[in-house]
Amino acid sequence: MIRRSVLLGTGSALPARSVSNAEMAERVDTSDEWIRERTGITNRYIAGEGETTATLGTAAARAALDAAGLDATQIDLIILATATPDQTFPASATKVQAALGINDCVSFDVAAVCSGFLYALSVADSMIRSGAANKALVIGSETFSRILDWEDRTTCVLFGDGAGAVVLGAEESADGARGILATKLHADGRHNELLYVDGGPSTTGTVGKLRMKGQEVFRHAVTNLAAVLREVLEIAGESADHIDWVVPHQANARILDATARKLGLAPEKVIVTVDQHANTSAASVPLAFDLAVRDGRIKPGDLVVMEAMGGGFTWGACLIRL
Ligand code: UT7
Repeated sequence: MIRRSVLLGTGSALPARSVSNAEMAERVDTSDEWIRERTGITNRYIAGEGETTATLGTAAARAALDAAGLDATQIDLIILATATPDQTFPASATKVQAALGINDCVSFDVAAVCSGFLYALSVADSMIRSGAANKALVIGSETFSRILDWEDRTTCVLFGDGAGAVVLGAEESADGARGILATKLHADGRHNELLYVDGGPSTTGTVGKLRMKGQEVFRHAVTNLAAVLREVLEIAGESADHIDWVVPHQANARILDATARKLGLAPEKVIVTVDQHANTSAASVPLAFDLAVRDGRIKPGDLVVMEAMGGGFTWGACLIRL
């Protein structure tokens, strides 16, 4: 028998307020045309008063639990990926845990920025396969609007807030045909300076603002993402032709196109939400995934690959059969 982590449900949540490019252009020296042409973004959601990483994460988790038909108390592991926690500590995962009324389970955050959801998914998968967990909530939730420098037009137009979640469960079957088939993670800390926040509890004692050398990040992103996609396919003994859907990190429509082209994947197989959500960091992959599951594009039996790359650099991918 093979024990695998299978997908039981997905969910997502967005702040109430959506902000168009035109509205951004009233605030900073930019234009709808520039943002659209360079990134594919037309809209983003920005958290308002009372909306935080933990509240959005909780809403996404509730939706995923509903979809799975599970009661929160059946969850024995919560991993929340974020670079924008409610507080330095405790982990936002424990705030979600409390809001869901779960009194005892393993609960922690992971910090891998835009790849955070892939890191969280991979750790949850390992814990499920080892028997350390049976039912896991894996959440990506961010309020990047709160670490943006609203005077820096090269970054503030690119990001948005939101949350996505999946419920994973252990399943033993003779063939192990469905579930997470492979994950692969990478980090290369030599590139810290290309995408970072210029503050923190142990350095400035402040929260800091996001800084990015966009062009250099772009170059690394396309190379690294294509390479890690090939790696997960190789680990699982699968080929790119068998992929039904790619759920990529939504940083820039041009990165999605270039990565798909490198792998010879048809653009119709790529789930795109960057136009509506902008870059929501660790939330982007589970948000896009939930959208495509709910609108019926991603169906049981499909072979899906998820990938992301972000600050660190960190990057990773996951191949899953639904
Ligand atoms: O999620 C983590 C991973 N992050 C990413 O993957 C982001 C990767 N990078 C990118 O997506 C792109 O590099 C950006 C969208 C950030 C920038 O696009 P670009 O085509 O690389 O533009 P650029 O930085 O080379 O800037 C081109 C021009 C500059 O003007 P000059 O120097 O050519 O006169 C900028 O000052 O565009 C100007 N510019 C803007 N103009 C209007 C930069 N930001 C803006 C803006 N509005 N918001």
